[in-house]
Amino acid sequence: MNIRPRRLRYNSGIRSLVRENHLNISDFIYPIFVREGTNIVEPISSMPGQYRYSIDQLSNIINEVAALGIKSVLLFGISNTKDELAKDSYNSDGIIQLAIKTIVALQPDLIIMTDVCVCAYTTHGHCGIIHDGYVDNDLSVEVLGKMALSHAQAGAHIVAPSAMMDYQVAAIRSILDEHHFKQVGILAYSAKYYSSCYGPFREAAGSAPQFGDRAGYQMDVANKREAVKEILMDVEEGADMVMVKPAMLYLDIIAEAKVTTLLPVVAYNVSGEYAMVKAAAEKGWIDGNKVMMEMLLSIKRAGADLIITYFALDAVKYLKDNN
Ligand code: PBG
Ligand code: ZN
Repeated sequence: MNIRPRRLRYNSGIRSLVRENHLNISDFIYPIFVREGTNIVEPISSMPGQYRYSIDQLSNIINEVAALGIKSVLLFGISNTKDELAKDSYNSDGIIQLAIKTIVALQPDLIIMTDVCVCAYTTHGHCGIIHDGYVDNDLSVEVLGKMALSHAQAGAHIVAPSAMMDYQVAAIRSILDEHHFKQVGILAYSAKYYSSCYGPFREAAGSAPQFGDRAGYQMDVANKREAVKEILMDVEEGADMVMVKPAMLYLDIIAEAKVTTLLPVVAYNVSGEYAMVKAAAEKGWIDGNKVMMEMLLSIKRAGADLIITYFALDAVKYLKDNN
């Protein structure tokens, strides 16, 4: 009876002394969708509070992100020029390349990460190049390399390949090095699952596959040892950080990633996870802000060093208001 855990919960001062995990402003990476056109700030219906921006409308959001103290954004481009080979994905005047240059000019200290995947650039919506009705790994990797290089040339600091092609990290590392972009880092979407939580994102990015599905390249939801295999491969291939995606439903994988590698572990709190919280909050069934903070803290507690989340701005505002 001489061990009484409740002593350390007696009041808020004691609780904060023994608190094991904390969310910080620098934990968050904010995803931004950039589309073609001008004068567009278009709400994404399945992701309340998130928008597609045309390049001329980026300044408000980018300046707000920087003013809040958020250190990094993850950019997604939505192309109007789709084809079978995703040629617009490595166009030096493409949507994402121009967005990178614009953001560098607006906020030179903001760390720019870019998603490297062709699903928003292909007519068929797959994350790679189709050959004989199948997503061909090595053809796809070649295009992903060109795409990553074009992002580096535009000024991206970190490229994040998300196509789940084998050896995509190795291919990108070698093309970047060849072109003297040794300082540009790679955030590998290492354990990216074949999840049903990407629906709102695909609506936002117009990147749903037009036939078949992504089960042939994204990871089976049932697997955990395979995540370790993918992470170890990406570390070997030269990744600077590894990612687990989704986050909220994959806390065990985040914890596993943490003991698998000494690299920073990034968790992607995906669109469906965001939408679920927003929808329940809108109905008045949960306190949206509190559930948001609990969810983000759980992701941190599981072992994530960084969290990519559509909640980034809301969470930072909450932290500022409640400290
Ligand atoms: C592109 C990509 C996707 C997401 C990030 N990059 C969609 C997919 O793989 O279908 C999902 C992000 C989210 O749901 O928030 N490969
Ligand atoms: Zn993709």
